[in-house]
Amino acid sequence: MKGVILAGGLGTRLSPLTRVTNKHLLPIFDKPMIYYPIGALVKAGITDILLVTGGNSAGDFLRLLGNGSEFGLKHFNYTYQKGEGGIAEALSLAEHFADGESIAVILGDNVIEGNVRAAKQSFDKQGRGAKILLKRVPDPQRFGVPELRGDKVISIEEKPKQPKSDFAVIGIYFYDAQVFDIIKTCKPSARGELEITDVNNAYIRQGTMTWDELQGWWTDAGTFDSLLRANNLVAEGGANKD
Ligand code: DAU
Repeated sequence: MKGVILAGGLGTRLSPLTRVTNKHLLPIFDKPMIYYPIGALVKAGITDILLVTGGNSAGDFLRLLGNGSEFGLKHFNYTYQKGEGGIAEALSLAEHFADGESIAVILGDNVIEGNVRAAKQSFDKQGRGAKILLKRVPDPQRFGVPELRGDKVISIEEKPKQPKSDFAVIGIYFYDAQVFDIIKTCKPSARGELEITDVNNAYIRQGTMTWDELQGWWTDAGTFDSLLRANNLVAEGGANKD
């Protein structure tokens, strides 16, 4: 399985912090934000990784990460998303890299306490379709929110005013090679983006979507409050633990 980190977009919710640099280069406690999603993939045993970046200071990722030797990698792949066309648009840039293999996708502003090795192994066994990870949160309306029936997810709504559960769909996804054809069928949402939630709903309609509940804390870091929370959580106990 290959890994894709999505670190495009303009990070406007963090302006002026992001006016001259890239959101994913901002610090979370003692490391740049981008270190955490890389660490999460490497901890899951995924070492063939593509970073999709964009916006300001894209060249700084190369200066910072080089070939990924700090993470024990021999090689690191990069590509560039122009503008802010959405998470699914950023993912579409990984089609050539994926080359028909399954992929694990992680958003560049997501940080986890533990690891997703078990979820990766379970998706390896599943063989086709997709898998998402869910986490109970106090503010589901900020996220993609699943509607669950028994052990099945029957739909996901993006930032619903009236959430149908208190789970968030976290920004770590497992997909088979169909994902790129599915993205080609997606249309821009009201906020003008190709939404990862539309991609996930396509797998749900197909009946090939599974989910696990993530153990340990999870946070994004794309708003002032969540960036502060990420800093505090990492400072208190560290991320990407065994
Ligand atoms: O953090 C989990 C949530 O992430 C999910 O629950 C939502 O379903 C999903 O849509 C997403 O929501 P956000 O609105 O918080 O996503 P945001 O626009 O902040 O983008 C998150 C990351 O995705 C960002 O750090 C980099 C990447 N991204 C985003 C956009 C819009 C790209 O690579 N390209 C883009 O064009």
